[in-house]
Parts: sequence; C-alpha cells; structure tokens
Amino acid sequence: MHLTLQQLKLFEAVSRLSSYTRAAEELFLTQPAVSIQIKRLEEQAGLGLFEQVGKKIFLTPAGKEMYAASVDILTRVKELKIAIDELEGSIKGSLQVSVVTTAKYFLPNLLGSFLQLYPEVEPKLKFTNRARILDRLMNNEDDFVIMGQVPEDDHLEAYPFLNNIIGIVAPADHPLANKKNIAIEELTNHRFLNREIGSGTRYVFDKLLEEHGLKIEPYMELGSSEALKQAVMAGLGITALSVHSVQLELEVNKLTILDVQGFPLKRRWYVVHLKGRKLSLVGRTFLDFILKESHQILGEEYEE
Ligand code: PGA
Repeated sequence: MHLTLQQLKLFEAVSRLSSYTRAAEELFLTQPAVSIQIKRLEEQAGLGLFEQVGKKIFLTPAGKEMYAASVDILTRVKELKIAIDELEGSIKGSLQVSVVTTAKYFLPNLLGSFLQLYPEVEPKLKFTNRARILDRLMNNEDDFVIMGQVPEDDHLEAYPFLNNIIGIVAPADHPLANKKNIAIEELTNHRFLNREIGSGTRYVFDKLLEEHGLKIEPYMELGSSEALKQAVMAGLGITALSVHSVQLELEVNKLTILDVQGFPLKRRWYVVHLKGRKLSLVGRTFLDFILKESHQILGEEYEE
C-alpha cells in the first residue's frame, strides 16, 4: 500500500472526531482537502473506511483496522522524534499544551518566561473548556493539559502548581458588596450568571450547591469567563469565577469578591498527563519549570 503519514494523520483525526469538518478545522485544512485524502486512502485499502448512517459517520471493519494501525504508526513517529531530540540533548521542538479557558489569565505569562530560557521550543497552545480538555487528555493528544478540577482517575498523573481561588464576583457597588458572612442561600435571591455545562468552574460551583441542597437557575449562561466578567461589570448579575480572571478589575475597584459562607473555594491548578505517557525532554523541562517557577513569576503565594 502506498500510504502517506499525512493521510494517516487526517484519517486518525476524522475517526477520532467522527467528522470531516472538525478534523479539517483541527488540522487547518479545508474539508474537501481532507475528503480527497481519505478517498485516496480508501482506494489504497481497496475497501471503504467509513460508512454514513444518517448524518453520522462510522468506521467500517476495514476502517477500524486502519485506525488501530494509524494510532500505532503515529505514536511511533512521535516517539522517534522524541528519541532523536534526546540524543541531540538540546531543549527544542514541539510542546503541545491544552489549557482550560480560565487558565488563559496566567499561562501565557508562564510560557513567555519559559520561552525566554528555551527559545527553540515550538509551543502549541489550545484553550478550551474542561469537558473538551478531558477528551483530549484521554486521547493522549497533548504533552500536558492544565486544568483546575482533575477527575479521580488512576490513569492520570496530576501535579498541583498554583492556587486557584474561586469567589463570588459582583460589581463593586452591588448591594451585597459590604455585607459580611452572607449565607449561601442568599445567592438564590440575586440574578446569577453561570458558565456553560462542561466548564470546570461551573462544575465545582454546582457541586458545592448540591452539597448545600441548593439549586440556582442561572439568569444567563455564558461560554467564557471573559464574557461573564463583562456581563457582571455591566450589572447583569453576579457569578462564580476564578480570581485569576478578575485580578485587574479587582485592583481598579470595578469588581469585588462577596463574603459568602463557604467561599472563596480554595482549589489548585494542575499540570496533568496520562500515566505512562513518555515525556519528551522539552516536556520534562517544561513540567519542572512550571512546578518550580510559577508562583514566583506570578508573584503568588503557594504552599505545597
Ligand atoms: P473552565 O475550567 O475554564 O472550563 O471553567 C476551569 C477549571 O478547570 O477550574
């Protein structure tokens, strides 16, 4: 068979995402370009690799064989690259990190400091919510993911490296702003804005409410911490957010953290990878850097 690595890469992405369109997006190609390559691969295999049922595509038995082989081959090629970089001994090459959206408020800063030390590293960052990060983690797509709420799972290796303080954020002139020790039930009397289902911040907030036997019907659901922050500043309601995302607004007194019982939640940020993943030299260096330097670079207190 005359197959190319690029064809296998496309095929792996289409199979994993069950979509030509999403695979094309992920690989920065057009959808027809992906379809043509998959067609060529099918010609080489002599059998169809996908079948369409309704609007969904599924792997045929030949497709399943091709998928297992693609994952093996692409993993070997990645390992080969790692082995060659190690022999060379220099800290360079790709570093793929997926980051929960909320961590965008500090991760670029840390990465910038890392790249000053190791300018030959080629970083690829992906920002998305916790649910998508978990998919990527389980598919072993990144060197690391950075997230706040790590599921309990023996297959994961998670290293805490920073505090993640989640507070109830309100406009500075909110009626509750100067109240002390506000009962958590009081939150149900105010317009509450929430992140979307799938967000780590939302997950941890919902869990806390559940522990108190409370339910808050959000006045509005917004898909990013940034959007929530803008909405709170516009007086549309209050919300639960990581303090990392509102630091500047707190400093200039546009927003405040309400003194609600049980808050702020003191969580951690973690670097996570699948257990058994062979870390590249770049990966090991990055991990070491993040664990040792983060709090100092960001000027934050942190107790291990
Ligand atoms: P989120 O994740 O940006 O999806 O809310 C934050 C977290 O994991 O704590």
